[in-house]
Amino acid sequence: MIREQQTTIGFHVWGAEKLSEETVKVLRLDNDGITYAMAVTEEGFLLHVYYGKRCGDDDLTYLLHLDEGTYTPQHHNRERLNFMDSRPFEYPCHGIGDFREPCFMVMDEEGMSACDLRYRGHRIVSGKPVLKQKGVRCIPATTASEGEAETLIVTMEDAHEGLVVELSYSIFRDSNVITRSAKVINKGYREVHVNRVLSACVEFPSSDYDMITLNGAWARERAVCRAALHGGKQSVDSIRGVSSAQHNPFAALCSKDADEDRGEVWAFHFVYSGNFLAETEVAQDGKARFVMGINPYDFSWLLKPEEEFTTPEVVMVYSEEGFGGMSRTFHDLYRGHLIRGYWKDRERPVLINNWEATYFRFDQDKLYAIAEQASKLGIEMLVVDDGWFGHRDFDNSSLGDWYVYEEKLKGGLKPLVDRVNALGMKFGLWFEPEMVSDDSELFRTHPEWAIQIIGRNMTQQRAQYVLDYSNPEVREYVYGMIRKILDSANVEYIKWDMNRNLTEVGSTALPGKRQRELWHRYVLGVYEVMDRLTTDYPKLLLENCSSGGGRFDPAMLYFSPQIWTSDDTDGIARLQIQYGTSYCYPASAMGAHVSDCPNHVLGRTVPFDTRGNVALAGTFGYELDVTRIPEEDRAKIPGQIEKFHRFNGLVRDGDRYRIGNPFGTEQYDAWMHVSKDKNEAVLTFVQIMAQPNRPKRNIKLKGLCPDKKYQCEELGMTLSGRTLMTCGIDIGLHGDYASATYYFKAEE
Ligand code: GLA
Repeated sequence: MIREQQTTIGFHVWGAEKLSEETVKVLRLDNDGITYAMAVTEEGFLLHVYYGKRCGDDDLTYLLHLDEGTYTPQHHNRERLNFMDSRPFEYPCHGIGDFREPCFMVMDEEGMSACDLRYRGHRIVSGKPVLKQKGVRCIPATTASEGEAETLIVTMEDAHEGLVVELSYSIFRDSNVITRSAKVINKGYREVHVNRVLSACVEFPSSDYDMITLNGAWARERAVCRAALHGGKQSVDSIRGVSSAQHNPFAALCSKDADEDRGEVWAFHFVYSGNFLAETEVAQDGKARFVMGINPYDFSWLLKPEEEFTTPEVVMVYSEEGFGGMSRTFHDLYRGHLIRGYWKDRERPVLINNWEATYFRFDQDKLYAIAEQASKLGIEMLVVDDGWFGHRDFDNSSLGDWYVYEEKLKGGLKPLVDRVNALGMKFGLWFEPEMVSDDSELFRTHPEWAIQIIGRNMTQQRAQYVLDYSNPEVREYVYGMIRKILDSANVEYIKWDMNRNLTEVGSTALPGKRQRELWHRYVLGVYEVMDRLTTDYPKLLLENCSSGGGRFDPAMLYFSPQIWTSDDTDGIARLQIQYGTSYCYPASAMGAHVSDCPNHVLGRTVPFDTRGNVALAGTFGYELDVTRIPEEDRAKIPGQIEKFHRFNGLVRDGDRYRIGNPFGTEQYDAWMHVSKDKNEAVLTFVQIMAQPNRPKRNIKLKGLCPDKKYQCEELGMTLSGRTLMTCGIDIGLHGDYASATYYFKAEE
């Protein structure tokens, strides 16, 4: 529910005898779980009042402390700067006295850069309007129908430049979620450069919180990091052109006592795939300001009169059930309101990918042999990874030449795909559509299509460059090639990879004044092609990937229901990676495969069963040469696939409860997937290192109905949910990396 309230505040002005008054308009968003409130002063300053657990319908303006220390400027202009530098703002500007982290910075034709946004009005709409910007095909964002959400749009204006900023706040009816974005419209008569335009700011009344971020590297993505707030700025960001493996576009503040099941968490997730910033600043008064949006680093956007710019959205989740509650809110939101299309709620085919099986060394007979063996074991789709196009025998050529490498696949794709289909299997293909190899026909013909600064060396990675997706000609050409391949055979899945970061960020197609727009225009260009692809081929299953999980962000989920989580497929390393990923992404989105041992990244050997049990907590598939693995491993595949079919509904649609913590010292991990009606659940337990003289571990279940009785075949016991959750069960497994699953079914 969104409402407006009026209130009059009385206060003493220093030096004056009479009590002064100010009428403040309060705008409030409430649902059963949360309240978000802001206030408009008589002069039009938009102040933040409250965000958190649902509170009473009282007048909350006392939280602003307008009567303390620094007065409202219209009554006491001589202290205006103090007001600007201490009050909590909804969308802070710079240059007029607020010296904390701003959301918005512009520079006009004269090189002047102050800004003063004031409230001009607001409107409330039912549902959640689609994010739009003239000339942009799509901006990924969560969706909600009229009954599911309500949106407040507050119009702010900087009268000096004639700039209008519309701040959008959508509150979901049934979950603790508010989404935010901002739209800038140049209503003036001069050009302005928008140098900073973040999506959200939330002011916190103290700094008594910890900040949680998800950090890592290639093959070690999304490790959970927790640090106390301290004076000054704490941030994570990306300046790589992708959301990055190094820092996910996620941050949360939490109460000091927050843990997996208890405590307050305010989480922020940016629906964006490029450079981002998530920053908390603890200011001189000990209060914390959190901001999130497109990274202002090297960013500038020219807005001519009547032009507009829309920011991506920030998803804000509030939980009073610790990180577990936060995650389940994200999972429900993304499964219900972000992931789209044919595969959204469907079980995905169990795939076998040939990357770790063959790398670049394959031909159609080898692929067919893998498929034939795989089909006998119950695997449902063959995915041909890198190396099927151009003349690609290694990673140093042919990106951009998206036609079949006939020396490997004689007669083209169709004969192979037809044979695979005849085995009853689907067929999928790898592309890296944003790239061009130095050694490629495409680069020889169109060197100007690569991102570059003319006259400077072009930094290579994997002997490749990034294509200039801000250029519509490039997008059209590459997409045309992809279409040709898709139309040449029955390709039902694409793995869309992206294997390098952006350097020498310049475009041969943009004018000088717009060069700094390239970072963002590139991302919008990628979105456009992904949107065309999924619109033109509605049943295509798209899986995103970026050197593993280097672009695992919510915007990618708008196009692809699943994302390759990490190139590290080691069953034990995956515990941490999947644990961190599950902070905000549902299991249905986490690409997870059983691979060969010793593991290609770590050299570690983990039992085949455990590799399977860990991969079952994601999308599930195989990434090995099924014709060459040991017979005893191969023999286990049908059983694993049977488990997949049994449990995948629970994993895909159920609630996930993290029980163990692979970052902790306890040497085990455990998690549960519980059906929404709480009639079924599966518990997975993985022992990391076996410990002497510790025969059994007591595992307390979560998420069950206390009053239901659950049968568990593996334990040979029937116990109430209450007992399972309070007394737990004892699990004793033998050996390092041993694991087991336990299925619980409620009695009728
Ligand atoms: C990236 C991906 C891998 C694989 C290779 C192919 O590293 O993450 O899964 O597709 O590229 O070159």
